[in-house]
Amino acid sequence: MNAISPIPMRHRSADTDFPRGWYCIAESENVSADKMLPVSWLGQELIVYRTKDGKAQATDAYCPHLGAHLASHDGKLCEGRITCPFHKWEFDSATGKVEHIPYTDVPVPASVRLTLHPTRESDGMVLIWHDPAGGKPTFEPFDSSALRGDGEWIRYAVHSWEMTCPFRDILENIFDTAHVTQLHNAAALPEITSFEPQDYGLRVQYTTDPDAGEATPIRGFEMNLSGISLLTQYYDGIHFTGLFVISFTPVDEERVVQTARLYLKDNGNREMMDQIGRAFIDRFCFEVEQDLKVLDYKKHLTQPRLCAGDGPIMKFRNYAAQFYA
Ligand code: FES
Ligand SMILES: [Fe+2]
Repeated sequence: MNAISPIPMRHRSADTDFPRGWYCIAESENVSADKMLPVSWLGQELIVYRTKDGKAQATDAYCPHLGAHLASHDGKLCEGRITCPFHKWEFDSATGKVEHIPYTDVPVPASVRLTLHPTRESDGMVLIWHDPAGGKPTFEPFDSSALRGDGEWIRYAVHSWEMTCPFRDILENIFDTAHVTQLHNAAALPEITSFEPQDYGLRVQYTTDPDAGEATPIRGFEMNLSGISLLTQYYDGIHFTGLFVISFTPVDEERVVQTARLYLKDNGNREMMDQIGRAFIDRFCFEVEQDLKVLDYKKHLTQPRLCAGDGPIMKFRNYAAQFYA
C-alpha cells in the first residue's frame, strides 16, 4: 500500500464555502430541554437544546454580551431560559431574547439577542440550515417516515468516519459506476430505473439482481438526497427491509464527518435480523473505508475526462451545482 501525507484542501478544491443545505449537528436522542449540548460544526461553535415545547433549537455558542461560551462553567438551561455563566444574563431559549439582567433595569436594544439558526428534526437527526449568503431555508429536508410505514424499526448500528474528501465529491461517488466494480469488486452493478428531482433534492431508484451472489441479496433500493448533505437509502431485501440514514457535516475547511445509521424493520426473528444487519453493516463499512483510501487524497477536477461506463457523474454534478453560489 502507498502512503501519502495529508494534502491541504486548498490544493484539491476551489470551493471556499460549504454548499447551501441542511446539516446534521446532533442525534435527536442527545438533545434535551434541561441541558445545552455544545458542538463544533461548519467552523462554528454552537449549542443545541430543546425549547420548553420540545422543539430542537441551535444557537451560536457565544453570549452577545461579552462573548462567554454559554455552555461553559455553570451556564444553564432551565424552564426554557438560558443563563450565561459570566454575568448571568438570561435569554429565552425559543426566541433568543434577553429576559433578565440581574444588575440593571435599563433595557438593552431588541437586536441584542442569541443568534438562532433555522433548526429541524428529521429521521432522528437535528439539522441546521447553512447558506453562505445568509439566506433563509429554500427547501425542507426529506423525512423517511412515509417509506418506513407503521412497522417497528430497530436502530441496528451507527458508524462515523472523519474524512478529508472535497465536499463536492463525496456523494458523486455513488454515481461513479465504474468504481463499484473496479475499487469495490462488487458482484453486481445496480441499475438506475429513475432519477427525479424533488423539492428537497433528488430521488433515485435502483434495481439489483438478487441472484448475483451478494451476502445480503436485495431486489432494489431507493435513495433520497436532501441537497448534497443528507442521504437515505431504503433497501428492499429478500429477507429484510433496511434503511440507512446518512449525514455529511463539515467540521471545518479540511474535515467532514460522515455518520451512517442502519435501521432494520423488525420481522420478529432477532437472530436472523442480527445476521443480516451484521453482514450489511460490515459490507457498508468495508466499502466506505475502501472509498476513503482514495477520496481523502483526491482533487475535484472541474473537467474530468470521462469515458463510456463511468456512470451519470455529470448528471449528478448538474444537480449538485444548484447548492453552490
Ligand atoms: S458574557 Fe454572557 S452575560 Fe456577560
Ligand atoms: Fe464507493
